[in-house]
Parts: sequence; C-alpha cells; structure tokens
Amino acid sequence: MKFICCNTYDALSEQAAEILKGLIREKPNAILGLATGSTPVGTYRALIRANRAGELDFSAVRSFNLDEYFPISQNDAQSYYTFMRQNLFDHVNIRLENTKIPNGEAKSAEAECALYEASLAEAGYPDLQILGIGENGHIGFNEPSDRLSESTHTVDLAESTIAANARFFDSQDDVPRRAITMGMGSILKSKKILLLVSGKKKHGVLNALFDASITTHIPATLLKLHPDVTVLYDLDAKNG
Ligand code: F6R
Repeated sequence: MKFICCNTYDALSEQAAEILKGLIREKPNAILGLATGSTPVGTYRALIRANRAGELDFSAVRSFNLDEYFPISQNDAQSYYTFMRQNLFDHVNIRLENTKIPNGEAKSAEAECALYEASLAEAGYPDLQILGIGENGHIGFNEPSDRLSESTHTVDLAESTIAANARFFDSQDDVPRRAITMGMGSILKSKKILLLVSGKKKHGVLNALFDASITTHIPATLLKLHPDVTVLYDLDAKNG
C-alpha cells in the first residue's frame, strides 16, 4: 500500500483525476471501477472539466460501479444510478450502455448479484478501481463482520452506515436497509486500486490503514493484500 498525503480535498481530487486521466489516455477503452458517496465527487468534477476542455475522451471507456441500494428504482433521487448520472455520466461523453451499476430494480437480488459478477468476470475486472471508505472501514457496502463475502452479494447495511447516509435522505427511516455490493474478492481483482480518504471523520480509519494488521472487522485493511493500492489522504484525515 502506497500512501500519498495531499494538503486539501481539492488537491486530493486533482491528484486522483490525474491518475485516471493518465490511465484513460494510455488505454482509451479502460474499465473503471467507480464509487459513489461524497469523496469522489471532486475527482469526477476534475474529470468533467478535462472532458469539456477536450483533453479527455470517454467514448470508449467502460465502467462498473461498486454498489447500489436494493430495492430502489433507477430514477429515485437517491439511487446510485441517479448519483452517477448527475455527478459524472451526464457531463462527459461516456456511452451509457458502457456503464454498469447493480440493478436496484431487479426481481431477484440474488440473480442480479450473479449476473453482475459474471459481467465483471467477462470484462476482466476494472483496470482501476476508485474507492471511498466508510468511517467504520467499509469498502463498497462490505460492512465489518466476522466473515466477508467474496463476490457480488446482498448486504444488510450496518446501523452506522444508515446513520452516515441519512444526510442524503429526508429522514433516517427513508434510508434503504439493504444493498447489492461487489465483494472484497471482486474488488481485489482490479488491476489497480485508488483509495480516497478525506475529512476529519476518516482519521480513525486512516490510522487503522497505517497499522499493519488485517481484519475483516475493518474491511479496508484487506486491501493490504493487493499488490497495487495507492491511498490518497488529506490533512484533515491525517490530523483528525
Ligand atoms: C460508495 C461506497 C461507500 C463509500 C463510503 C464513503 O459507492 O461504496 O463505501 O465510499 O461510504 O462515503 P463518503 O465518500 O460519502 O464518505
């Protein structure tokens, strides 16, 4: 795990975007693993600016998102599908048919998980996976637990995650209780991983990453098993 300290959230976002731009220029049909949440928004904004300036072409880029609430309709204001449209897809020249997000409208969550993992496997898994991190160390919706599932699966959200995500909903009761998420095994199959850690609330979990131990109770520590992980963190996360 390589750690890089950035002074501010904006600097972190610019640096993450530079890494993505480098990949897309080198491999125009790169497969990106994408995340939602507040952290990658600045990175997506930097990518949008580069695309608008004619410096970055998404026409052959493909993407897979980490997770989606279940059940949820695609057009729900809080679906991750809507989030990705609003924060990236609608503002760059990516083809929507090249973007994949677990389907929150699927009749069977289990069948959707199997289908999603099969499409990941067929595509060969992402060239670069962008990740945020939960205050509890979750990655995607892989919540702290004695056991972690390897591939795409359904999950009951942890109370702390429901509370953390309530800021996006009218009330905490409106936060969906379940989700579909890529498993830690699927995530570890990406060729490269870029983990973004920003803000005072992530201080504790950043320290857990600095520590050498690996535990399913802090799922992000499993990323230490991957040979090519870069952690970009800002001073707020460092100093708490
Ligand atoms: C989002 C996701 C989550 C977030 C995490 C941090 O697709 O998988 O694991 O990355 O909850 O969220 P923020 O960035 O809002 O602090």
